[in-house]
Amino acid sequence: MSNQAWSYPEVGGDLVNIVVSEEQIRQRLSEMAAEIDTDYAGEEILLVGVLKGAAMVMSDLMRHLRSDVSMDWMAVSSYGAGTKSSGVVRILKDLDTDLTGKHVLIVEDIIDSGLTLSWLIENLRSRGPASVEIATLLRKPEAAKVEVDVRYLGFDIANEFVVGYGLDYAERYRQLPFVAVLAPHVYGG
Ligand code: XMP
Ligand code: MG
Repeated sequence: MSNQAWSYPEVGGDLVNIVVSEEQIRQRLSEMAAEIDTDYAGEEILLVGVLKGAAMVMSDLMRHLRSDVSMDWMAVSSYGAGTKSSGVVRILKDLDTDLTGKHVLIVEDIIDSGLTLSWLIENLRSRGPASVEIATLLRKPEAAKVEVDVRYLGFDIANEFVVGYGLDYAERYRQLPFVAVLAPHVYGG
């Protein structure tokens, strides 16, 4: 696949190839939403998005859902401006919602090492929810350092640094409607 859909010439050369297209994302999110609606039939769901990367997944996934949902956001940091997970997680913004008795569905953009999410799951479980599950658009199986039990998965991708559809490098490229591999020369790889 070419990256010709990307019409911003100043970054066009930074993208190697598209790994998940706009159409693939749209299709898969509607399938995931149907699974979620079936599994949570009759229950309220609290969608917990992880800022900022999950913003696009959240808005596109939730518009397919027919369940009774509300939404809250957390911001955590494990990366800084670099491309490697440190395993050190800081809460930059906590939830506004009391999780007691709630069915929590974490909505994520990508699981890389799994370190951020395994920390987050433990953190949220300690707040007395009825359940905590994970929906993620992307996962890099080869990068896993800890096992994370993902209930709803979009796509497994190769262990390359990707941007777009919410994912950034140094806060750029988030607006791409697809997921693309970032050329290593951009981050000095
Ligand atoms: P870990 O390694 O803890 O990382 O599972 C989770 C978070 O790291 C970010 N991440 C990426 N961001 N392209 C990005 O733009 C990537 O390829 C990538 N891999 C990990 C992301 O914020 C994720 O939530
Ligand atoms: Mg993220």
